[in-house]
Amino acid sequence: MYRTIRVPPEKGEEIREKAVAGNFLDPARKIRKIQTSTGTFLEIPVTEAAGEIVGDFPVIKQEKPEFLEKTCSLKEYLSGTLTEAEMKHIPSGWHILGDIIIVSIPETLESKKIQIAEALLSMYPKCRSVVRDFGIEGKFRQPKRELLLGSGAETIHKEHGCFFKQDVTKVMYSKGNLEERKRMSKLGQGEIVVDMFAGIGYFSIPMAVHAHPEKIISIEINPESFAYLNENIRLNQVEDIITPIQGDCAEAAPEGEADRVIMGYVGTTHHYLEPGIKALKKSGGILHYHETVPENLFRTRPEERIKKAARCLGKKVEVLAIRRIKKYSPGVLHVVVDARIFE
Ligand SMILES: C[S@@+](CC[C@H](N)C(=O)[O-])C[C@H]1O[C@@H](n2cnc3c(N)ncnc32)[C@H](O)[C@@H]1O
Repeated sequence: MYRTIRVPPEKGEEIREKAVAGNFLDPARKIRKIQTSTGTFLEIPVTEAAGEIVGDFPVIKQEKPEFLEKTCSLKEYLSGTLTEAEMKHIPSGWHILGDIIIVSIPETLESKKIQIAEALLSMYPKCRSVVRDFGIEGKFRQPKRELLLGSGAETIHKEHGCFFKQDVTKVMYSKGNLEERKRMSKLGQGEIVVDMFAGIGYFSIPMAVHAHPEKIISIEINPESFAYLNENIRLNQVEDIITPIQGDCAEAAPEGEADRVIMGYVGTTHHYLEPGIKALKKSGGILHYHETVPENLFRTRPEERIKKAARCLGKKVEVLAIRRIKKYSPGVLHVVVDARIFE
């Protein structure tokens, strides 16, 4: 029997994401729209692993399933174009933001990069461009990328019911931070929040869209990211919640205003702990402090740094959780510490 979850269209993306995260989305069948006597629904195809209920929706038997056409692998697309030796180095993964494919291609395949880009575009007919990735660098966390094929690198990526407009050659968007973006979307209801490293709105937008804080002050130093932050505030219609500020959060963060402060930056985040703590109300609040840390220090160093900064300001700290966000580089983790700061 083929299983499916029938949901109202506005719940489609949420349940599809749950199915992807739970590894039970059936990749062989189409997500399809159906009309019944009670309205319009989407059917999300799932495997047996979905169980009997997902969210509030029962898993039901699907009548007349529709199947996706089987697409060729990158290897199959490139066979005949690359030598056997070159084939060993072709990319095994890539990611898609909006309608742009982002891929890293080794130096050894420099002369074949356009053929690889063409093959990828054939695999994803809905995509428009292919961009080669060389990693992230600098204080602004800017990607080093090259447009290989297509009309441009600006796109609107849709995630968790939010729109993120961005030029993928100018600003970063970390796939590995997906769960943290979703977590932030559940926090902050009715609060005053300061997002010290707002970027294009990675955390501010989902929080504003889903949790409805009273106010989010979103600070971003890089003018290119700041321009997209402003566009994303408009696109997601959260102008009444987010106040964007362009500048250095060490100087631009308010003092004594916030119930919650997000410090979503890595590398030198600890240098900003004092302004982060000062931004919280005098009576205290919650800090989400990100850090990249060697694996053997992840339970101690971030906590010690928060405590040291708090001590200098005459504050106390209760660590609520230390979460691993992702592996950042060999032996180094990206973690976030949730801490309550109080007098
Ligand atoms: C790219 S984001 C981090 C990624 C994000 N957490 C995610 O989910 O993908 C960090 C942002 O902080 C900004 N930034 C760096 N230093 C800053 C500072 N002193 N004040 C304000 N923004 C800063 C960078 O320009 C960048 O846009």
